[in-house]
Amino acid sequence: MYSGRTTLSKFLIEQLREHPEGADLGALLVDVAAAVKAIAAMTAKGALGGFLGAVEQRNSQGETQKKLDVLANEAVIQSCEWGGLVAGMASEELEAPYEIPAEFRRGRFLLVFDPLDGSSNTDVNVSVGTIFSVLRHADAQAPTLDAFLQQGSRQVAAGYAIYGPATMLVLTVGRGTHGFTLDREVGNFILTHPDLAIPEETSEFAINTSNERWWEPPVARYVNECKAGKSGERGRDFNMRWIASMVAEVHRILMRGGIFMYPRDRKDPAKPGRLRLMYEANPVGMLIEQAGGRASTGRGRILDVPPAELHQRVPVILGSRCEVERIERYHAEFDAGTDRPFVSPLFNERSLFRPEALAVNAGLNG
Ligand code: AHG
Ligand code: MN
Ligand code: MN
Repeated sequence: MYSGRTTLSKFLIEQLREHPEGADLGALLVDVAAAVKAIAAMTAKGALGGFLGAVEQRNSQGETQKKLDVLANEAVIQSCEWGGLVAGMASEELEAPYEIPAEFRRGRFLLVFDPLDGSSNTDVNVSVGTIFSVLRHADAQAPTLDAFLQQGSRQVAAGYAIYGPATMLVLTVGRGTHGFTLDREVGNFILTHPDLAIPEETSEFAINTSNERWWEPPVARYVNECKAGKSGERGRDFNMRWIASMVAEVHRILMRGGIFMYPRDRKDPAKPGRLRLMYEANPVGMLIEQAGGRASTGRGRILDVPPAELHQRVPVILGSRCEVERIERYHAEFDAGTDRPFVSPLFNERSLFRPEALAVNAGLNG
């Protein structure tokens, strides 16, 4: 029963055989997988583990921290700091990058992670996850904050774990996106979903519609067309999902297609989106692209966004290629004013949503 199964270690040795940094990268991913197993054990205990609920302090972004946010953060740090593989780490739960203690050797990678994604779901026993991104640090010096601010296209590897009915690890080293399932009795991740491929078309969308009144017109246009179903522009019925764990939404999309949106909205003009670029959008963007999908801000590829801050937020629209391209077209038509053919350009109102207006709102110019 166990013979012929591809374990994570075997897979990494084979995938990274020709890779110039293959041995170190493989070893780092195995360390990340060890942290994932520890977090899987904690989440699986539920109320019996005493891990549920919030802690007193708030995280770097003023959000309430769950006990599991803190414990998952510690699990990743402890698993990855000692091996001489990373030069530094950065986490959603820490304001500034984590420095590798002097007693350990520094390595050539930077690990950026969201220890527990969807943590509002921990207390209600709904799937949560861990997201990670691996970047290079060629320098012999300890990394400064700037060293972390690399765009997503420079990621060496990316992945997530999902703690659902089964724990899975989904990762890419730039050669496709592959899924592994944790065999709890044996303690190994087994390759169960090689070469994931997202269908180009879909009839399933995921968005938090409670934010509808804050959306930009191109997003509202797309969602309204989906909701109109057979009788509308799209000529077919759509289905909707919202789990409030991006990892779970992305996993569903990798398994059967779909589209996920946390777009730019007007709710808080200082925030250009809900999700964070460095440890949510970039790693997931790489996984989606490696599976043949597209990951966009609505106005360009997520992996091309130049980061200015560690905890920077970004609009996210990702999933089945044809649908993401359609939403990008709606943004382009809106920005050009061509989505309103009956309004003369002379009288075209200057919308609060236009990029120049948004930049002014966010204090970026003018
Ligand atoms: P985190 O738990 O790491 O802060 O991330 C939660 C994110 C993401 O997973 C999810 O899609 C989104 O926040 C949910 O936001 P709403 O509560 O606005 O639906
Ligand atoms: Mn998150
Ligand atoms: Mn989180």
